[in-house]
Amino acid sequence: MPNKLWIAALALAIAPAAAQTPLERGKYLVEGVLTCGNCHTPRGPGGVLDTSKRHAGGPQVWETAEYRVHPSNITPHNETGIGRWTAGQIKTAIRDGRRPSGQQLSPQMPYAYYKIFAPADLDAVVAYMRSLPPAPRQVEPPVYKAKKMTVDVPPGATKPLPEAAMKDAAKRGFYLVTIGHCMECHTPVVNGHRDFTDALGTGGERFEGPWGVSVSRNITSHKADGIGAWTDNEVKRAITKGVRKDGTKLRPPMGYDWYARMTDADLSAIIAYLRTLPAR
Ligand code: HEC
Ligand code: HEC
Repeated sequence: MPNKLWIAALALAIAPAAAQTPLERGKYLVEGVLTCGNCHTPRGPGGVLDTSKRHAGGPQVWETAEYRVHPSNITPHNETGIGRWTAGQIKTAIRDGRRPSGQQLSPQMPYAYYKIFAPADLDAVVAYMRSLPPAPRQVEPPVYKAKKMTVDVPPGATKPLPEAAMKDAAKRGFYLVTIGHCMECHTPVVNGHRDFTDALGTGGERFEGPWGVSVSRNITSHKADGIGAWTDNEVKRAITKGVRKDGTKLRPPMGYDWYARMTDADLSAIIAYLRTLPAR
């Protein structure tokens, strides 16, 4: 390589990271910790994501006693997606779980975990969603069987955290774990409500899919049942590569490929928070 290029490469390597634009921040969040596409991208045979139709909604269906829903087309397509929604309407859907018509969204869309969104991050997410290529794809309409659907908001997550808190690794980790809706999968439902009080992070939820059945694990600091005896690197490998401490492979629906795009600092913050979970 000619010398001049070497110097240019060096300069790049030592230059401080340029501040992210809102669009870059939105992409980092949506394609990383938020895993929006893990639900909103259609899956073909064998559960494989159809990456030619990212965020265009799914044939996947979730049915409970309260609802039967498919993930919506959230690309800016005017007829079949959210192309006609204003930025404010999209924010209301994400954070408050309400469509422009006023209809409550089913909690299968994890808006209970999005009330904590830092306003600038939510703006960034919306900016990114609106920049996606519009994909035409009609998704079957939802069926709501209950007048009001049960929504369990994690304690401490009903509103954005004070800005100062985001400088503390464990608190930032709590923020990331919340918007990453980790505890929705890793906390069991007891008597119709997610048991954040007595069973936060203890796992035990069953997920059926083309991968068979997977059961979420205990990710509290318990030494034997949780990840208390795992090193930080072992926890990072589990989150980003889907490999357990003993080397065995973890199965979906956890979005390992998305989490792999997180910065090391964000992964460390997540682990700092997980270490604070009481051992259970
Ligand atoms: C766990 C799966 C899941 C994740 C993760 C998820 N969603 Fe959803 N989302 C859904 C489902 C299911 C619906 C449809 C709910 C219904 O019809 O009641 C939905 C609905 C929506 C809607 C309303 C669209 C419409 O046409 O009514 C928007 C907007 C949306 N999601 C955006 C997002 C964004 C942005 C993210 C990432 C921050 C995200 N979703 C993450 C499952 C998910
Ligand atoms: C959509 C549901 C879902 C979400 C969201 C989710 N997980 Fe998981 N997670 C699982 C399941 C299921 C397993 C077990 C898979 C298996 O055994 O094959 C698992 C396994 C793990 C493991 C391995 C633990 C062990 O003992 O093997 C860790 C660590 C973990 N998750 C942490 C997280 C963190 C941190 C987040 C958020 C950034 C997260 N998970 C989000 C479902 C989820």
